[in-house]
Amino acid sequence: MAIQPVEMNTACPVNNETSHYGIEVPSIVTESLGPEEREALMARAKRLLREQDAVLVAHYYTDANLQQLAEETGGYISDSLDMARFGHQHPASTLVVAGVRFMGETAKILNPEKRVLVPTMDATCSLDEGCPAEAFIPFCDQHPDRTVVVYANTSAEVKARADWVVTSSIALKLAKYLAEKGEKILWAPDRHLGDWIRQQTGADVLFWKGGCVVHEAFAADELRHLMQQHPEAAVLVHPESPRSIIELADVVGSTTQLIEASQRLDNPTFIVATDNGIFYKMKQGAPDKTFIEAPTHGIGATCQACAHCPWMAMNGLRNLVSTLETGANEIHIDEAVRVRALRATQRMLDFAESLRQPVLGESDI
Ligand code: 13P
Ligand code: SF4
Repeated sequence: MAIQPVEMNTACPVNNETSHYGIEVPSIVTESLGPEEREALMARAKRLLREQDAVLVAHYYTDANLQQLAEETGGYISDSLDMARFGHQHPASTLVVAGVRFMGETAKILNPEKRVLVPTMDATCSLDEGCPAEAFIPFCDQHPDRTVVVYANTSAEVKARADWVVTSSIALKLAKYLAEKGEKILWAPDRHLGDWIRQQTGADVLFWKGGCVVHEAFAADELRHLMQQHPEAAVLVHPESPRSIIELADVVGSTTQLIEASQRLDNPTFIVATDNGIFYKMKQGAPDKTFIEAPTHGIGATCQACAHCPWMAMNGLRNLVSTLETGANEIHIDEAVRVRALRATQRMLDFAESLRQPVLGESDI
């Protein structure tokens, strides 16, 4: 299949090479708790989860306290695909989704009968923000010959316009599947992930020009320098990173796939180009190995999101407890939008099922 030249997305009102797509990026503020307050909040959260028939589903990038709480209460920590699958399969009547808003919305799309809470409604994502439905829908309309594949990091309205929803763990396999059927792809919103699947599969991909503020900050020259200092290290890269970083990787994959690689490979050291929240699980799975953050900018430079997502950082024990106590921050989606978004989201789960990727138990990670 011929590789098409990249068509730049002129329909997007927030395209801008010099800023993060015109999106205001908040400062990173992580929750800081003294030992007594932490213990008290953990105990309150455990009681509330039990009393409210609620289960905590957390992303790897969230605060270590939340990951520990999920582990100790029968909840789950995973990548965005398995978060969706776990919440869908779990019998609890309330899902508490710690991550960013699209993860809560995906849970609601799949589980309308369940109450879905998030610790804060402010936790969004630069990919989701950079792909507003009012610009994306006309863009799709201009390309009716293309199959619309959107990353899970999008709003329910964008998912409602899509033919497929996909996450990084199955993006390559889906692109290959569609390419083999001769389908041309319209990919949104992450242009680096789109570029990677185009390169790897030869699929005909037209992509929206969005980016992740965290992964776009990794810097190739600095990474090369760090690799020279650590010749024993393997480089693990999330595919939201730019091509210059991906080219230096030993393993490219979703967060779960990177954690698996850190356990599978014999290297004593890993340089990791993704959010550093992932180190909680990486260190737990391989306590004798050394994990180093991939560098972002040159020495002395400032960085808006130095290997940590400012929106993921908004989740903490305090707002989780307060959400459970007040019932605030419940996700609601217009039913007509939800039903349309379900089609492409359910397709993602069915496709993942056809690949026979089981939901990973905690013992597997
Ligand atoms: P994963 O699906 O790999 O967890 O990625 C989600 C995400 O937001 C990465 O930045
Ligand atoms: Fe979005 Fe990037 Fe944060 Fe993931 S790390 S939630 S892609 S901004």
